[in-house]
Amino acid sequence: MKNGYERFVRPLLFSLDAETAHHFTIRLLNGASHFDPVLRMLKSLQPPSKPKTLFGINFPNPIGLAAGLDKSGVALPAWAALGFGFIEIGTVTARAQPGNPKPRIFRLPDQQALINRLGFNNDGADVIAHRLAALRESRRWPAVPVGINIGKSRATPLERATDDYLYSFRMLRDFADYITLNISSPNTPGLRELQEPEKLSELLDLIGKEARTAPKPLVVKISPDLSGTELKAILAVCEENGVSGIAATNTTLDHSSIPPQLDQAGGLSGAPLRDKSTALVREIAARSTIPVIASGGIFDAESALGKFQAGAQLIQLYTGLVYRGPQLLHEIMDRL
Ligand SMILES: Cc1cc2nc3c(=O)[nH]c(=O)nc-3n(C[C@H](O)[C@H](O)[C@H](O)COP(=O)(O)O)c2cc1C
Repeated sequence: MKNGYERFVRPLLFSLDAETAHHFTIRLLNGASHFDPVLRMLKSLQPPSKPKTLFGINFPNPIGLAAGLDKSGVALPAWAALGFGFIEIGTVTARAQPGNPKPRIFRLPDQQALINRLGFNNDGADVIAHRLAALRESRRWPAVPVGINIGKSRATPLERATDDYLYSFRMLRDFADYITLNISSPNTPGLRELQEPEKLSELLDLIGKEARTAPKPLVVKISPDLSGTELKAILAVCEENGVSGIAATNTTLDHSSIPPQLDQAGGLSGAPLRDKSTALVREIAARSTIPVIASGGIFDAESALGKFQAGAQLIQLYTGLVYRGPQLLHEIMDRL
């Protein structure tokens, strides 16, 4: 049976083009974030908490908002009020940037999928740091952990990528309970090359040195399109550098399940990604003790439990939320 969101809200949102619907939703949640009665009302509907401690941080529940939905961190109080156990904002880049030309988000309802080639459109580290400082002053800072996902600005050459990550890390670390290094988005040319052991080693070494004075848990977000050998090498580098967590996975470039007439360039997310990313979670858990934050095709309690059974400690939602709405959170929580 369809839930309230699927019956009443989704048809309205899906009557708009995907990016317009996204901005409409974000604006609404941004409005709610400034309005205490709405936040209180949302909180009253929250499911009971299922606490979990990871990286020395207390999570009220293990279900988080995946990176990319609130790239510029404009609606943190609303996400927390909806019941998320943690919120990952970003990807934030050192410089503000508009992203790729539109259209750049595509719905594939029959496949329960999205394809996006947004290309890290975001307000940039300076503006976002100011926004987060203002939120902290307003006393509406959410009572759940906040992760900040950082990436490389498009204009920065790959050889200077580490400077870019370092800049965002310095600007944003005080606001973050953990920092995710996104080295796996398929929509910034060359970014995935940072998954190569030498480049990743250099990045982790630099950020690790920076974090030495005030330690901050570091999470590395990886692609589902890695070979077994590549994964092994990444895990070795992450272990050597004391990485706290692996976020598995980002969107995939494997579009083999998509009919050619519906296909678009970009990263594929949702149901077609589910098994591939769950298999990667299982492989990481078998090879390493680094905790995994899993995302990829979580649409119901079964697919959420599948990630935990594969070895994930925390999970994150994106495409499932677009198709199933915030009720999805309750549905999963009921089965934890
Ligand atoms: C429209 C869209 C934008 C995204 N933007 C980002 C991003 O900026 N940074 C990031 O690390 N992941 C981004 N992702 C990836 C998601 O965080 C998530 O890892 C991936 O979509 C798999 O989960 P899902 O199948 O539940 O969507 C994005 C995904 C979508 C669909």
